[in-house]
Amino acid sequence: MLSKLLMTGAAGGVGAALRPLLAEFATSVVLSDVTEITDLAAHESFQLCDLGDSGAVAALFDGGVDGVIHLGGVSVEKTFDLILNANLVGAYNLFEAARHHGQPRIIFASSNHTVGYYRRDEQLDNTVLPKPDSLYGVSKVFGESLASMYFNKFGQECLSVRIGSCFPKPADPRMLATWLAVEDLADLCACAFAAPRLGHTIVYGASDNAESWWDNRNADFLGWRPKHSSAKWRAEVLASASRQDARDPAVIYQGGGFVAAGHPSDKS
Ligand SMILES: NC(=O)c1ccc[n+]([C@@H]2O[C@H](COP(=O)([O-])OP(=O)(O)OC[C@H]3O[C@@H](n4cnc5c(N)ncnc54)[C@H](O)[C@@H]3O)[C@@H](O)[C@H]2O)c1
Repeated sequence: MLSKLLMTGAAGGVGAALRPLLAEFATSVVLSDVTEITDLAAHESFQLCDLGDSGAVAALFDGGVDGVIHLGGVSVEKTFDLILNANLVGAYNLFEAARHHGQPRIIFASSNHTVGYYRRDEQLDNTVLPKPDSLYGVSKVFGESLASMYFNKFGQECLSVRIGSCFPKPADPRMLATWLAVEDLADLCACAFAAPRLGHTIVYGASDNAESWWDNRNADFLGWRPKHSSAKWRAEVLASASRQDARDPAVIYQGGGFVAAGHPSDKS
């Protein structure tokens, strides 16, 4: 059991869904975001913080925390200035603050978009070279690289979770492969905090989906076994799906629409 867990990006979709599940492995939880959260439970507190502000990020660790779930940042493709502040400077500020405050383990919300340019007929383990599909994906490769360097140089442990699609249910055929139940994500966080050693480990954040393109056997030592699967929505998703063009890059590659999208600064 952690005594004080810090969760950044707590006002977002994943943060809101995870909050009720954190009491399973944390006695108190500090929630942080640029958007205020007011509906706090008894074991929760809130601290407003822009991840681009190093002083504000350091202040999140005041009084000590013994685990961090780092969800905060830009979560889709955006212009580089936005990604730079939230995802690159923000990740750096977070790892630096952790280094100076007792090195609590960090769960870093990385993304499947770090490897979005692999084809859907390829199975990936956690040793493949990155093939990001967007500036957003590049920013998550930066975060994973930061985590690797902070472990090798300073012993700062981190789990980089290449989250697939963490939503209440799969919304399209691609998500039958990438869907991650929030309960499975909570179990993964609990396993990472409890594991005797973590080092810097990369894991694909997907439930036990039959369609999956990802092989997590290298992270089996964590003891994480997802209990959910996209199977119960398969018929519904396929029935409502529009016809797919097999030559469309968004269908060929794992990153889907992020692959097909142009540069975010280009005028359409
Ligand atoms: N939901 C998914 O399926 C999915 C897939 C892959 C990766 N991820 C990653 O997981 C994390 C959470 O995803 P989500 O779907 O909840 O995204 P979200 O956009 O709903 O939430 C992100 C949160 O980060 C906050 N944030 C943005 N910029 C900030 C800044 N400069 N300082 C502090 N907070 C800032 C936002 O206010 C927001 O509440 C993100 O890092 C995302 O990239 C999510």
